[in-house]
Parts: sequence; C-alpha cells; structure tokens
Amino acid sequence: MSVIVFGCGYVGLVTAVCLARMGHIVQCVDIESNKVAALSKGTIPFYEPGLKQRLVLAQKDQKISFVTRPSLDAEICIIAVGTPLASDGSSDLTQIYAVADTISEMENPPKTVIVKSTVPPGTTRNLSRYIQEKCPNRKFDFISNPEFLRQGNAVEDFQRPDRVVVGADSAPAFETVERLYDGFSLPSGKFVKTDIETAELTKYAANSFLTTKIAFMNELAGYCEKIGANIDDVAEGMGLDARIGPEFLRVGPGIGGSCFPKDIQTLSSVAQERENPLGIVDAVIRANRLHLEAMSAKVMDLCGGNLNGLKIVVFGVTFKANTDDLRNSPAHAIIPALQKAGAKVTIVDPVARKNAGRAFEAVVWEDDPYLAASNAEAIVILTEWDMFRTLDLEKLAKVSKEPRLADLRNLYDRETARKAGFKYTSVGR
Ligand code: UGA
Repeated sequence: MSVIVFGCGYVGLVTAVCLARMGHIVQCVDIESNKVAALSKGTIPFYEPGLKQRLVLAQKDQKISFVTRPSLDAEICIIAVGTPLASDGSSDLTQIYAVADTISEMENPPKTVIVKSTVPPGTTRNLSRYIQEKCPNRKFDFISNPEFLRQGNAVEDFQRPDRVVVGADSAPAFETVERLYDGFSLPSGKFVKTDIETAELTKYAANSFLTTKIAFMNELAGYCEKIGANIDDVAEGMGLDARIGPEFLRVGPGIGGSCFPKDIQTLSSVAQERENPLGIVDAVIRANRLHLEAMSAKVMDLCGGNLNGLKIVVFGVTFKANTDDLRNSPAHAIIPALQKAGAKVTIVDPVARKNAGRAFEAVVWEDDPYLAASNAEAIVILTEWDMFRTLDLEKLAKVSKEPRLADLRNLYDRETARKAGFKYTSVGR
C-alpha cells in the first residue's frame, strides 16, 4: 500500500520505518526541513535502539522518503504529530489542524485518514468534519488507531504489539487497517474494533492506568520505609497474582516522559470539562508531584539535612533508560531542588548530553562515573541505565569524599552497598 506519515517524531518515524520494512511505500512529511534533510541521509534525530539500521535498509530498498510537503498519491495517511499540553492543561491541537489543512490542500488526498497521535476523545470526528467541509466533493474514512509503543523498545513494540485498537465507522475502514498491518505478528483476537471515541479514550485509559500502578507503588514505598517493609518484595508478592501482573510495579524517582504526565493531565481536564471529575486520576497527578518532592528530601536526609556547597553526582537524567528523552524527567524536578539547597551538581548520562542543551543550568557533565564521583559528597541514581547497574561500588566509595548513595531505582542490594562503604538509601526498602 502507499502511505503518507505526517510527523517524524518517535511514533511517526517508528511507524513509517516499520511499515516500509513490511513492504509498503511510505512518504514521511515533517515541517522541519533540517530534520527531513538529516533523515534523508539516514540520520535519526533521537536515540532509539534498532531504528537506524531499519531506516537504512528501507532507504536502500527505496521504500521510504522524507519531504516537507506531501507529494505521493497515497491510499492512506497517518497523522502522528505532537499534541503537547497547552498552558491551561488542555491538549494543544495546533499541529493536528495544520496537517488537516495540508491534507485538504492536496490535489489528490488519501481516502483514509488514520489518527495515531494521542488526541482527546472527539478530536478525530471534529477533524473529519473540518476536512470534509474543506473538501465537500471527496469522501474520507477517518480512523482512530492509537499507538502503544514505548520509547527505547519502540520497534519491537510496533512489530509485535499486544493489541491493535481501531475506531472507525465502516467495515471497509477496518479492512483497510487490517491490510496495512497484515504481516505484523498480531496475536489473534487482539484486534479491537470499536467506535472512534472509544478508541481515542482507550489510549488515555491505558496510560492513566499504568501511571496509577506506578504511583500506587511509589506512594506505598513511603509507608514501607516507616514500618521497615520492603517494597520490592511487596511488588513481587502482588505481581505474581495473574489479575495484577508484575509489570509497572517498579518504584523509582517519579513518573516522567512525554506521555504519562501529559496524558493523565489531559484526561483529568477533559473529564472535568464534561463535569465528570476523575478523582483517581487527579490523585495520581498529586501523588507523583509529592513523590518527586519526597525524593529531593530523601537526598537531603542522606546528607544530614544540609546540601550547602556539597558536590552531588547524578547518575542518569533521562526519564528512563534507553532513550535520550528528557521530557518531564524526574531530573528536572530533583536537580533544581538540590541546587536550590546549595548543592553543586555533576551529571553522568550515556546519551543525554548531546541533546540536553541548556536543560540543566550550572551543572558539570562527565562521561566517566568514577571520575565524576571523585570528591563527591553524595551520588544519586535517577535512571536505570545498564552502566549504572554494574558499578564497582567499592571503587566508587573510595573515590568519594563522603560515600553516600541515594539509589532511587533500587538497582543495588542494600547490604552490598553498605559493605562497599556507602551510607545508603533507596526507595521503599
Ligand atoms: C508510555 C507507555 O508505556 C506506552 O505504552 C505508550 O505508547 C507511550 O507512553 C505513549 O503514550 O506514547 P513511555 O513514555 O515510552 O511509554 O515510557 P514507559 O516505559 O511507560 O515509562 C514511563 C515512566 O514510568 C518512566 O518515567 C519510567 O521510569 C516510569 N516507570 C515505568 C516506573 O517508574 N516504574 C515502572 O514499573 C514502569
């Protein structure tokens, strides 16, 4: 099939590359000409394992191209542009409507429009009215097909999804999506066909539910600390119940990324607008904020309540491992809080430095963890990168001025850290 993908961010680019590798002819459209030029040469603007190799192969087979304006007579277009949070907490749909304008101006627009961007329920239908009004002589099929891939695991998630959720109004529309994904290993019976609004909401519901699981564990971790219980063992004991499952019960410094914080906020806002407040979602937003504050306080406690002039080394600033994405990373809340209390911060992160720009003010960047820890008065692990899982703790304690370790991803066994010489704290243990 021939497909135009609007938006070359994580979702758009992964979708485009995977569809091209499946044999479809794909044209990717992005308004940023620098990005288009770089992608045309096989350079990916972000870190995503396995994506570059697949892009290069798709380019070699001439299955994929990059442009700033669409020029392909395609059967399908996929909208995968960003829907950031607006300042009032609603979803900023500017990019979505800019794509709608582009589609309406095409000489031969695609008949099927698939919305993959995460959009508030009702958006796809509004978009369909908007385009249909501009092109009264054409007939479009509008489809909501939210994406559930995770950054850092995006290719695998796209190629082997747990499920595909499709919201549409007609049987031919469902068939078009089935043909598009034919060839991917979809578990049988996991193709959820529904109406457009339900598909849109399913995305917010899934992200909000996963966020609730993590926030619940993070909150419970504080209570574990009070009574001397171990949150990791609680998670294991809970997760073995098939009705709960082991995933997304891992405690950490707080929930981040470009999706979870934005999506729970949007779901809360749109439900509020319809006078149906979602108390649990609101509580999760509050719990995550409090948890982030508690993490800075934890580092403060480890250092005896005074950070003034202390050298603190932060291991990992991306919102999770295997991505260079800093959006809503817990580091954005925790590092300024430490600095405000007088700490001098050094950062080690295997990939973040290149794209960090001025994301963190007045910090020193180091590549080598041991060099960074030299004369440190505390080390704080924020991201679970592999390089921080296998540290030589004795060496690290020796080079530190004051061996203190706040392991906010629970990567180390407490006894091992203490034996290595660290005054040690973690989350919920
Ligand atoms: C998330 C969802 O997992 C995807 O299914 C969804 O498609 C995507 O958002 C999206 O809406 O585009 P992602 O943002 O890549 O994917 O990151 P996750 O792996 O879900 O992690 C999100 C945050 O939760 C991170 O800060 C991570 O460290 C934290 N987390 C995750 C925990 O603290 N504990 C866990 O057990 C799992």
